[in-house]
Amino acid sequence: MILFTVDVTHLVRKAVEDIKSGKTGYAWAIDNRGIFLYHPEKDLIGEDAFKARAARKPKISFEQINIIQKEKMLKGEEGISWYISGWHGDVKKEMKKLIAYAPVHLTPGQDLNWSIAVAAPLSEVEGVIHSVYIRQFYIQGIIILVIIFGSIYVISFEKRWALSLEDEVTKKTEALKKSLDKLEKSEEKYRTLIESAEDLIFTVDEKGDYLSMNRCATRFFGGYPENLIGKNVSDLFSKESAELEMGFIKQVFNTGINVNVKYPVEVDKREYWFTSNFVGIKNESGKVFAVLGISRDITERKKMEDEQMYNTEKLASIGKLAAGVAHELNNPMAIILGFTDLLLEKTEHSSKNHEVLETIEKQALNCKRILESLLGFARYHEKIEYSTDVNENLERVVSVVENILFTENVTLEKNLAKDLPKVRGNSGHLQQVFMNLITNAVAAMEGKGVLTISTTLNESGNRVEIRFKDTGQGIKREYRDKIFEAFFTTKRMGEGTGLGLLVSHGIVTKYGGEITFETVAEEEDREKKGTTFIVSLPVVPSGSEQISI
Ligand SMILES: Nc1ncnc2c1ncn2[C@@H]1O[C@H](COP(=O)(O)OP(=O)(O)OP(=O)(O)O)[C@@H](O)[C@H]1O
Ligand SMILES: [Mg+2]
Repeated sequence: MILFTVDVTHLVRKAVEDIKSGKTGYAWAIDNRGIFLYHPEKDLIGEDAFKARAARKPKISFEQINIIQKEKMLKGEEGISWYISGWHGDVKKEMKKLIAYAPVHLTPGQDLNWSIAVAAPLSEVEGVIHSVYIRQFYIQGIIILVIIFGSIYVISFEKRWALSLEDEVTKKTEALKKSLDKLEKSEEKYRTLIESAEDLIFTVDEKGDYLSMNRCATRFFGGYPENLIGKNVSDLFSKESAELEMGFIKQVFNTGINVNVKYPVEVDKREYWFTSNFVGIKNESGKVFAVLGISRDITERKKMEDEQMYNTEKLASIGKLAAGVAHELNNPMAIILGFTDLLLEKTEHSSKNHEVLETIEKQALNCKRILESLLGFARYHEKIEYSTDVNENLERVVSVVENILFTENVTLEKNLAKDLPKVRGNSGHLQQVFMNLITNAVAAMEGKGVLTISTTLNESGNRVEIRFKDTGQGIKREYRDKIFEAFFTTKRMGEGTGLGLLVSHGIVTKYGGEITFETVAEEEDREKKGTTFIVSLPVVPSGSEQISI
């Protein structure tokens, strides 16, 4: 029996003595009666586990471990618990110990169970747990710190990013505001420009309904924008005029090409003349969706043009008449002069008759000059083209009139452009024009003034402009549209024929030129008084063969 016990003890020791828990935790085993099969403290082996502890430390209650042994271990259960002990190895004191136990089934299906327990002081286990906790705590702490710092960094980065974004947005908003302001201002400028324009500016859709209208247009149609916008072309113009207007609008819609026209329109039973420009307003795909119209009321101008045409025709017929008369008178005049000459030769120089004959000759020569002027005017329709140098002709005329200028107390200033191209014209004719304009200027200055003659080539290089600027009395308002008329003169009887400007005009226009004037009459402005006659002559195209005279 003893042998068996030793053997069992030996067996259990072999199995249990190596079991260690933590630093000092050890294992012990009891059999199914509660006898220690193994315990690292050898004297306990074989002792009753319910009594041996109390025998050693009678002051300590081992109730807890006894319950565990009885209720759990001997019933073959496994689990973890704690109990009060009086020692642990060499440490002798009352302490709380942790115990983990499990059964050992010796024979499957039988009740013979042993139980093995591992015990260790709670403080030791707690220490282990504690350090695990601390490590965990540190790790968790670090993780939490990382998360917190990370979040702070992310938040601050986001904030900084948000700030820079905000900054950028503010800047962009300001720039946008500025450009909007600019746009608004330029829009305003355009609106003012359109609103203050003297032309009728409007937009219409394909049906001819007005989409917009500027002030000039609403004034023209005698209404307010709110009454007129939305109306149709046919509501504002007469039937024929509306059809005409719609024809142009449709043309722009169909072709996309601008239309520029001059035409009569009837509004409120009154006839007007319009020059209009119809422009297509296109969408992104290039399709016309509205038409912008700019119409100018040229009724007055047209009237003037018609009148001018009438005047030109009138002048042309006067010219023909004058030419006929001049031609008829030329011969008798030549005879009168011839005979006067003959009589002058035969009459005593100092005699009274000689003096009379001289007067006759002088007046006859005057008549001859008038006749020549008339004939010059009549040559209006002749189609002869020459080319001549403007400056050269001016110099020639100036050399002839120099004395007159001196005696009339007129200072001459010349601003002649160098290297001017030749112009269309006959030198004799141009000199006649220049002479007329200079003598008119001298006469207007009444014994004192400055005559400035200048020549320039215009910007496009196709015309030479000659200016005769005087500081004379100017041309009175009421005479301004009469000075080119035949026989209009403000000079005293015998001093002027009133043909000078008419003839000059005829010559200049014959060569495709123009003669205009700007004037300030003495009664308008005493300081700025004076007249400038401007002769503009077409340049002869280089390379074309022209005869220079
Ligand atoms: N430079 C000028 N300054 C002021 N009035 C002018 C000037 N040139 C022309 N006139 C006005 O135009 C009128 C017509 O001029 P125009 O040369 O046709 O005839 P005229 O000089 O009167 O006579 P003539 O046939 O002798 O030239 C002049 O009488 C004068 O009233
Ligand atoms: Mg004259």
